Amino acid sequence: MPAASSKRIGQTFYIDLPMKINNKVNLKDKNLIVERWQQRNNDDGRQKIIVEYSSPNIAKPFHVGNLRSTIIGNSVANLLQFYGNDVLRMNYLGDWGTQFAILSLAFDRFGDPDQLRRAPLKHLFDVYVEGNRLCESDIGWKNLAKNRFYQLEQSNDSKIYEQWCEFRRLSCEELEKLYERLAIQFDCYESESMYSGAVKDVIEILQQRQLIKTIDGATWTEVIDHNDERKKISIPLLKNDGTSLYLTRDLAAVLNRRKQFGFDRMLYVVDSSQWKHFNNLKNILYTLHDPVYRNLEHLKFGRILGMSTRKGEAIFLDDVLNEAKHRALEAIQTSQNTKISAEQYEQIADILGVTAIIVHDLSNRRVSEYRFNWNRALRMNGNTGISLQYTHARLCNLIKNFNDCHCSSSLDITAIDTIEGRNLINQILMFDEMIDQAYDQLEPSILTNYLFNLKTAINRANQELTIKGQTQPIQQARLSLFICARNVLNQCMRLIGLQPLESM
Ligand code: ARG
Repeated sequence: MPAASSKRIGQTFYIDLPMKINNKVNLKDKNLIVERWQQRNNDDGRQKIIVEYSSPNIAKPFHVGNLRSTIIGNSVANLLQFYGNDVLRMNYLGDWGTQFAILSLAFDRFGDPDQLRRAPLKHLFDVYVEGNRLCESDIGWKNLAKNRFYQLEQSNDSKIYEQWCEFRRLSCEELEKLYERLAIQFDCYESESMYSGAVKDVIEILQQRQLIKTIDGATWTEVIDHNDERKKISIPLLKNDGTSLYLTRDLAAVLNRRKQFGFDRMLYVVDSSQWKHFNNLKNILYTLHDPVYRNLEHLKFGRILGMSTRKGEAIFLDDVLNEAKHRALEAIQTSQNTKISAEQYEQIADILGVTAIIVHDLSNRRVSEYRFNWNRALRMNGNTGISLQYTHARLCNLIKNFNDCHCSSSLDITAIDTIEGRNLINQILMFDEMIDQAYDQLEPSILTNYLFNLKTAINRANQELTIKGQTQPIQQARLSLFICARNVLNQCMRLIGLQPLESM
């Protein structure tokens, strides 16, 4: 049986940003976590695991790929933590690269400071789209963007650098709001920009091993495929102007994180399309005879297709969350509970919208891609998030109504010995096996599908095993069963990242 609680231990903080790029730098907290990890001995079989998830590119909007990474990463981190592992939840922001240079250049031409203040992500996105369009059609503009990235990376133009700081700050603020709505937390934020300087050290290590070659002024390495020793692979590391690449920054990040945290495992929760990137990351480390490559895992997942709002294709996550909230409000309006205020309803609808999205997502296996379907996600009955919340709230209500009916240790088992009662007991007992399977495969869909079965068993038992009007021993036995069921339902819902509702 899992030993530790799934309670969050760390606090959000930002670590080691080489240039002061975020107001929230809080080195004290960082030291605490490093200390906690260093003091940890591995004799008890628990591991130190970094789970890197969400990781949006902040010049572009939070795209749906990042949403899946956020949902899956959070539940996988919960699972690992539930088994007593020491988990570090990390968000690795994509805040560097030519895309930022395109944005910076385009902002000089199309940007509007007022709009930037009012709706930063939306405005930056519009500006980025314009810049990208120009890049595709105008080689001169493309060269300008390349040059701007060079200037940014060399940090030799303070105006460009300050503008980048501002875009980054605004984007982070918006992101924090999204994470709050999704009830997602991180122990630490890192970002690609942190590693642009450290890339030099990486190149030097490869140089010492004579693994570097120059092709048309750009820096490449030739490495061995760790899956097939006979295969050699050429990988670019620096552009011909010496600026860094995504992979080189990731390489610097692995080496730094190992030094800083001494992790046993690092999971990258990133969509399957980046398999080659993570494979190459391992290939380089393998060729360097660095055993750390064995501790890196690309936790792949398939894409979400067709996620759109009534207005059209969804680009921004908050549009998707608002749509979910409105649809959830529509869905629950018919069953309005008069004891709940309008304001509480808004909050409940927000949580229900998020629940619907998470459950719809996690009912699919991690590696399969799936088509998003609002009607299916927001149904009141069947295998949906709303029906899980509804069952949970109903049980909480039932338990509250009979809270004076104290449970004794000797229960009248015959009061629950019916087909429905036994079926519910069986489902409750399945929790252990299901969570073991989900943990072994890092597959939250196993828990989600278990939740659907548990919910069905609860609802059936709830219909048959009435409490009201029964004798005290019968009430006690049935209530005990429902308390157990509620506890398992609640725990399992929290493991997949839901906030269980007590009333709705
Ligand atoms: N920012 C990237 C993207 O949105 C994902 C980063 C994944 N993590 C990593 N260490 N490369 O595609």
